[in-house]
Amino acid sequence: MDHGMVCVTGASGFLASWLIKRLLLSGYHVIGTVRDPGNEAKLAHLWNLQGAKERLRLVKAELTEEGSFDDAIMGCAGVFHMASPVLGQFTDPREEIVNPAVNGTLNVLRSCKKNPSLRRVVLTSSSSTVRVKDNLDPQIPLDESSWSSVELCEKLKIWYVVSKTMAEKAAWEFCNKNGINLVTVIPSFVVGPSLPPTLCSTASDILGLLQGETERFYWHGRMGYVHIDDVALCHILVYEHEKAQGRYLCSSTVVDNDELVSILSTRYPTLPVPKRFEQHKRPYYEFNTTKIKSLGLNFKSIEEMFEDCITSLVAQGHLSIP
Ligand SMILES: NC(=O)c1ccc[n+]([C@@H]2O[C@H](COP(=O)([O-])OP(=O)(O)OC[C@H]3O[C@@H](n4cnc5c(N)ncnc54)[C@H](OP(=O)(O)O)[C@@H]3O)[C@@H](O)[C@H]2O)c1
Ligand SMILES: *[C@@H]1O[C@H](CO)[C@@H](O)[C@H](O)[C@H]1NC(C)=O
Ligand SMILES: *[C@@H]1O[C@H](CO)[C@@H](O)[C@H](O)[C@H]1NC(C)=O
Repeated sequence: MDHGMVCVTGASGFLASWLIKRLLLSGYHVIGTVRDPGNEAKLAHLWNLQGAKERLRLVKAELTEEGSFDDAIMGCAGVFHMASPVLGQFTDPREEIVNPAVNGTLNVLRSCKKNPSLRRVVLTSSSSTVRVKDNLDPQIPLDESSWSSVELCEKLKIWYVVSKTMAEKAAWEFCNKNGINLVTVIPSFVVGPSLPPTLCSTASDILGLLQGETERFYWHGRMGYVHIDDVALCHILVYEHEKAQGRYLCSSTVVDNDELVSILSTRYPTLPVPKRFEQHKRPYYEFNTTKIKSLGLNFKSIEEMFEDCITSLVAQGHLSIP
């Protein structure tokens, strides 16, 4: 089936690669943007996807260059905007992550505005834009009406969350003003197989945890988890569903560190997964995912996402199970 042409920004990334796999399987023509189209080793996994030779095209685009996405986006009916800086350490967080994320999103949307074929933009946000705020009420699961406090995030110096929250807000403002049909997907921590040979930052956090490292996960605290395939399917679902509108939380189960390692060490007793974590004084919360479920999405379990993730880590030689 021919589904028309869509653009995916940041095509070589962990989540974008899986989305492209799913889009190609569904019959779409895909234009992926990458920063370095000459880097064959970084792109080989995309060319190996079923349908790629016939229906995938990769073009160069850079978030911080004005107009850089014009060519990639022109003529596309849909744009999946996933590219966003996700570095770890910053000397100047405004310059290094916040401005590129916010400006980059607006840059992509300005290219969308020039494209008369555009039907809908799907922006990949993050559940961190929903859950970081004072006065969380443990009795009321967080839904799409909740926004993280930029002020609190700045105080906590969690610049990735500042960047994602400000970028999504800027996108809503721009699209509302310019009549662009925008839907946002708000995934929690994404777990599953990695198509790129180099692990992205969250996938390498998982690898660290499975190898007994506690530091990075200690800081994650209580967290929602979601299978990478569910996140990709969610993007396609909200793109295709005529009546989809607004934000969509995309998360299977929220657990504390302690619960997560207990599940993992029971299932993988020979891996050196930490036995327990010091407890954070962080508030309890749940996510209300009624909205996306009512469009027909059924989330895979934590067990299933880690099983698929571990199988892929072993197959790629990142992990061995004693
Ligand atoms: N992983 C998760 O748990 C998770 C959860 C919620 C939301 N998300 C969101 O999902 C999206 C994809 O993240 P990911 O986990 O798949 O990480 P990833 O593999 O690191 O992907 C990030 C992508 O953004 C691109 N990018 C970064 N800075 C750019 C720039 N200045 N110009 C052009 N492209 C740039 C990167 O391109 P290069 O390959 O050239 O560096 C890469 O393809 C992000 O928007 C992220 O916030 C991820
Ligand atoms: C952000 O956009 C402004 C105006 O469009 C520009 O002057 C500035 O250089 C941009 N900064 C980045 C980091 O892209
Ligand atoms: C979740 O959200 C739906 C509306 O989307 C609402 O009807 C329901 O009561 C909420 N559930 C809880 C437990 O708050």
